[in-house]
Amino acid sequence: MANLTIRNLQKGFDGHQIIKGIDLDVKDREFVVFVGPSGCGKSTLLRLIAGLEDVTSGSIELDGREITQVTPAKRDLAMVFQTYALYPHMTVGKNLSFALDLAGTPKAEVEKKVAEAARILELGPLLERKPKQLSGGQRQRVAIGRAIVRNPKIFLFDEPLSNLDAALRVQTRLELSRLHKELEATMIYVTHDQVEAMTLADKVVVLNGGRVEQVGSPLELYHHPANLFVAGFLGTPKMGFLKGKVSRVSSTGCDVTLDAGATISLPFTNAQQSVGDAVTLGIRPEHLELAKEGDCQLKVVADVSERLGSDTYCHVRTTSGEPLTLRIRGDLASQYGETLNLHLDSTHCHLFDAQGQVIRKALQAAA
Ligand SMILES: Nc1ncnc2c1ncn2[C@@H]1O[C@H](COP(=O)(O)OP(=O)(O)OP(=O)(O)O)[C@@H](O)[C@H]1O
Ligand SMILES: [Mg+2]
Repeated sequence: MANLTIRNLQKGFDGHQIIKGIDLDVKDREFVVFVGPSGCGKSTLLRLIAGLEDVTSGSIELDGREITQVTPAKRDLAMVFQTYALYPHMTVGKNLSFALDLAGTPKAEVEKKVAEAARILELGPLLERKPKQLSGGQRQRVAIGRAIVRNPKIFLFDEPLSNLDAALRVQTRLELSRLHKELEATMIYVTHDQVEAMTLADKVVVLNGGRVEQVGSPLELYHHPANLFVAGFLGTPKMGFLKGKVSRVSSTGCDVTLDAGATISLPFTNAQQSVGDAVTLGIRPEHLELAKEGDCQLKVVADVSERLGSDTYCHVRTTSGEPLTLRIRGDLASQYGETLNLHLDSTHCHLFDAQGQVIRKALQAAA
């Protein structure tokens, strides 16, 4: 079992508060990803869990046992770093067995565990090599193997794929997903890459400025972001944002008159909304389309296009100068400076209040 409970965790360095009161539950066998921009405190939070930093206040419990003050070696956690941190003068086999040898584990058991880790990670043919004779991907697999032999309650990963090239990142990402299932392990994984977060996680924790912005499954966060930050952080190309004002409110929805010139009827509202409120409408690139005859809602000017073959990312600007991106299946040869007529799928729009908090769909409960 491995259930981690974090309550009101705070950490300051030199009087600067970096982790500002975090509450979080990690359940047994969950793959939890911390994601957020550089400097938001992801590594610090992971290091607090590992015991590599002392907390300023708050508590960390593992399976009901308080471990806030327990030394790292006694926490039953294993950390894998971006920089691998292998011993250069030892063979792969010795790197894998070192921690167990040090702990006085019987030789037969060490051999069994190393063989098992080598099998899972396909390191068998490499056991006699030194780290410098390995590729980056192989080194990272050894670093992961070193964690596996320790049979930790929770694996902690800090950007383990950052030093790999693009193709190897994708491959190693899939291997990690497989490993999580095969080992039935509990994993906490730090990344600033939202694609890694979306593809690996059972649960994503979006961090910003030392606070949790939102916790949920990847698709919950994608389809129901709680605020502008999460909406803008997850998804490539990014969600487009259009500023406007509420121009009509009814019991089932509202109209928003955009600075870009259009008025859009939306099926959401909340009790606090009133006419004249400043709002931001969010729309993902896949929910914008070229208007058919007569259903144009928004005129925009084409900027550059990215033609990928399978899709075209068409970057445009509204008359108010706000950038938007359309994702169109197949190829679209738009001309730079050309006027395009767009249709917005209002059921897929998101609406945020002046504080950046989402205005939820009024019709969601009935749907
Ligand atoms: N030992 C330290 N002493 C002082 N400040 C620190 C220390 N460690 C981290 N910080 C500060 O805490 C903040 C968060 O750092 P952290 O390494 O947790 O960010 P991160 O989210 O992992 O970023 P990145 O994506 O760049 O790795 C940063 O402003 C950093 O400068
Ligand atoms: Mg970091």
